[in-house]
Amino acid sequence: MMIENSHLPFVIGHRGAAGLAPENTLVSLRRAKLEGAQWVEFDVMLSADAVPVLFHDDKVNRTTNGKGAVNKLDYATLSQLDAGSWFDATFKGARIPSFTEAIQTLAEEGLGANVEIKPFPGTTRETAEATCRAIHENWPDSVPVPVISSFDADAMVVARDRLKQLPRAMLFGRLPRNWQSIVTELDCCAVHASNRFATKSMVEAVTGAGYPLRIYTVNDPKRARALREMGVSSVFTDRPDLIRD
Ligand code: G3P
Ligand code: MG
Repeated sequence: MMIENSHLPFVIGHRGAAGLAPENTLVSLRRAKLEGAQWVEFDVMLSADAVPVLFHDDKVNRTTNGKGAVNKLDYATLSQLDAGSWFDATFKGARIPSFTEAIQTLAEEGLGANVEIKPFPGTTRETAEATCRAIHENWPDSVPVPVISSFDADAMVVARDRLKQLPRAMLFGRLPRNWQSIVTELDCCAVHASNRFATKSMVEAVTGAGYPLRIYTVNDPKRARALREMGVSSVFTDRPDLIRD
């Protein structure tokens, strides 16, 4: 099994600091740092012309002033959209960043990152390949080694084969019965799973098998404390101002 990143903190900003700034934008990454987070999570998807960008949904409708499927819009178009006003007028002009721009911001801010590969449906291989290539070519020595994750097992196969030496975490909603064989097969060193299904026995099963468990999305400090007491290693939170290391 791969050696786990021992330096991941308890608090990981979710999509930057998605409760305080527009998700998956540079201002959101910076806001997470400002609120005390040392690490952030964000989602990486491909534009129509195969540029990796920070984006969560399949369509741009919810989080920008545009319309349509992400994989039908090229990077020049995506990067012109207003990805801030939907959240609050004060964020007008925030853009969808390229993954490369986000890596630069991590370096400027001294942030570590969990890179979630989020393929647009039907684009698993190219999304995972492009994300791995960008990490291989652009990741600065000054930024902690990233943790790569995905809900998509095929994306994790690509990450395992392309960036074998980097730590990987399998992402689950509810933990499937065969979670351990999936994690072993993909040579993952940690498990990421949903807060909705996190119970004491589930935490014990994962940590008892020797895997750090990180839980998303936790915005209630009491819940974060309870998870920590159960043995959860980290929580992904939209509100790093409320949940502290
Ligand atoms: O990586 C943890 C979490 O971000 C997974 O869910 O939908 O917010 O990407 P989602
Ligand atoms: Mg995510």
